[in-house]
Amino acid sequence: MSFYDNGRQVLNNLETYYNESIGKEKKVIRQQSIKTLHKELDLASHIKNGDLTGESLDEFLKTYLDNTTRLHHPGYLAHQVGIPHPTGALGSFIDGFTNNAMSIYEMGPAAAAIEFFMVNYLLLKIGWEPMPPDIENRLTYPHSAGILTHGGSLANMTALLAARNHLDSTIRENGTSSDITILAPEASHYSIAKAAGITGIGEKNVRPLATDSHGRVIVSKLETSFQAAVGQGRRIVALVANACATGTGLYDPISEIGDFCNEKGIWFHVDGAHGGAALFSKTCKTLVKGIEKADSVIIDAHKMLRTPTVCAALLVKDALDLDQTFQSKAGYLFHDKKNPGFDFLGQGMECTKAGLGLKFFMTLAALGEKNIEAYIDATYDLAREAFDYISAQPDFEVPVKPESNILCFRLKAPDDVQIRVRDRLIEEGSFYLSSTELKGARYLRMVFMNPETKLHHIKDLISSIREIPVI
Ligand SMILES: Cc1ncc(COP(=O)(O)O)c(C=O)c1O
Repeated sequence: MSFYDNGRQVLNNLETYYNESIGKEKKVIRQQSIKTLHKELDLASHIKNGDLTGESLDEFLKTYLDNTTRLHHPGYLAHQVGIPHPTGALGSFIDGFTNNAMSIYEMGPAAAAIEFFMVNYLLLKIGWEPMPPDIENRLTYPHSAGILTHGGSLANMTALLAARNHLDSTIRENGTSSDITILAPEASHYSIAKAAGITGIGEKNVRPLATDSHGRVIVSKLETSFQAAVGQGRRIVALVANACATGTGLYDPISEIGDFCNEKGIWFHVDGAHGGAALFSKTCKTLVKGIEKADSVIIDAHKMLRTPTVCAALLVKDALDLDQTFQSKAGYLFHDKKNPGFDFLGQGMECTKAGLGLKFFMTLAALGEKNIEAYIDATYDLAREAFDYISAQPDFEVPVKPESNILCFRLKAPDDVQIRVRDRLIEEGSFYLSSTELKGARYLRMVFMNPETKLHHIKDLISSIREIPVI
């Protein structure tokens, strides 16, 4: 069968999959064992025979799709993964087919030009000076910069490496120094501590900032944390704030923290992996007011910007910081050449890199800014409506009024019941929730990512939970 015929089969199957998912005809999640799936998918035999085409491809696809977690299902409320726009998914497909590994311009001029454009687009949203597309003007005047990375964890690590280099440019060559510290609220995403471990800063050198009972940074206590660290001879690599926190979806007071960091000369990193998308909404962007005071910001397009996984942006206020951190030597890549574009290679960790900008661009260009804004507003509104509804139920409790589209709640029952409820919902297959710990107690957690999810689905969820016999 031809590429075209196989492709048509893939599209037909995906269309059926999409309709079954939004129509709730199939379970939102179906978990079989690895052993069963290996057998059902017939993996070994396909590789042996090289027969994945025509009917065999069709059969494989049906089994594969039946064993996916259906993000398009309105009962999908679990994790911060975007519901991909179909045009964005076509971007992934085109990128996979053309395979333009665009870190050097000559390996993907269109892909690199789009990444450049998308980085600038985000820089402008923050209020920073974009990169000059006339490459001969690069670094001839102060401007900002950025790079798209394979995910927010890598974007956070890239930001912390730039911050470390800014603090002490000898570390890259000599190895790390034991007196350096990151200040971050405990509610920071685990990728911050992980990056500290990997980069040699050390997980134990991520010191917690004082926070309120909901885990938000208390601005009036920043000075105490700072003085305590400095008093013990620590040098501060960066202070990290959440926009928003993974567990609760709450935003730290960005503007006030920015003032503090700027006054002390501390690198200010805003982790906006999830909630940085608030910049796209006139109403929600007050939540990230003052974000321009940061030195680095990350935003995951594959979370609230409807882009297929993965595509994160790392943005830095001063382009020199990326240049000085990541310029490297590799004779086969870095040499004098005619280059009408820009090599992203010297701006981050990755060498071979997918054309991440294409799916990001295609998603936004298919939706248009107004629809992205409406989507963000609607999901943030739905979280507030769900909060009002669930808070009014006598057998449920909701610990935090949401600021974004993340909402934690629980039955008035012990921790193990929350876990059993989640397990039963997954088994039953109408709703898929996540769970988190807050202040030592276990909660169910919903993230409203799906534009098809409405308040009536949440009312159905509450009724379904009440019907679970374990309660
Ligand atoms: C606040 C925050 N930062 C970073 C990350 C990590 O992003 P990624 O999953 O793209 O690596 C997440 C993921 O949920 C997050 O919520």
